[in-house]
Amino acid sequence: MKPKVYVTREIPERGMKIILEHFDAEVWPEYGPPPKKVIIEKARDVDALVTLLSDKIDAEIFDAAPKLKIVAQMAVGYDNIDVKEATKRGIYVTNTPGVLTETTADFAWALLMAIARRVVEADKYVRDGKWKVSWHPMMLLGRDIYGATLGIIGAGRIGSAVARRAKGFNMKILYYDKVRNPQIESEVGAKYVDLDTLLRESDFISIHVPLTEETYHMIDAEKLRLVKKTAYIINTSRGSVIDEKALCEALREGRLAGAALDVFEQEPISMDNPLLKLSNVILAPHIASASYETRSRMAEMVAENLIAFFEGRVPPNLVNPDVVKVRPPPDKKY
Ligand code: GLV
Repeated sequence: MKPKVYVTREIPERGMKIILEHFDAEVWPEYGPPPKKVIIEKARDVDALVTLLSDKIDAEIFDAAPKLKIVAQMAVGYDNIDVKEATKRGIYVTNTPGVLTETTADFAWALLMAIARRVVEADKYVRDGKWKVSWHPMMLLGRDIYGATLGIIGAGRIGSAVARRAKGFNMKILYYDKVRNPQIESEVGAKYVDLDTLLRESDFISIHVPLTEETYHMIDAEKLRLVKKTAYIINTSRGSVIDEKALCEALREGRLAGAALDVFEQEPISMDNPLLKLSNVILAPHIASASYETRSRMAEMVAENLIAFFEGRVPPNLVNPDVVKVRPPPDKKY
């Protein structure tokens, strides 16, 4: 009998097709996420869940799912899943790292360049009919990227890919992480500094840490007091790494030149979020990995993780390796 899988959203064809071929799969048909009670209901009888970062997967779901063996997430981040709880119960958790690194780094750069050179404002300026003078020495001035200092918070795969791009802009690169990364130092000459130094010295601050208890509100009101008035913050990691209220205040009071954000404390953001009122902010709807190629590859990786597990192998992208001691992968091929 094929293992039963509940997929919380239609995922790109390349992965979906493999899942439908190999498993007895049901897919939530709507564009938005299934309500939690639907996931609970569906989880009752399944061996596996395919999830997205907007699905909260916690003990309540595990309690309802006695047969659940694996949660295969289509994302690199998995802060929406209670991994500790999953491990305790022998539930495997997988993600899709690596394939989205360059795509996400590209987008962090798209945001960086757009906020520095006011691309979104300029577009609106033209469309709103404000372009009345052909060229003016003071029109829509921004900040130079070339030769500026880039501070990377989180020097993992994506942070390093962002740093590599900065080389082409002759930037001075600073980085902070809880552990040093010798590769980023030798490859692009990035200098390891503490977080406060990075915030004080950078012209552009790009965030690439996962959301954990340690990184929650890592950039808070106090830290924002350290940044240069002319600096920009770019966030493509998770919204809650920054205290959004404090960020808003800093932006409003001119203690920071601007922010370009792909992620928010609440997604989607509510239309009364004060960030929407600020012109020195660029907002994107969590799309840093959203290229056709990358999203297809992510979906395929989800399928590969599921297949590996049900064929009795440790899935290639297991995020909770300790689970193997609690429950080895099934020993016979389905
Ligand atoms: C997107 O944010 C991801 O974690 O893949």
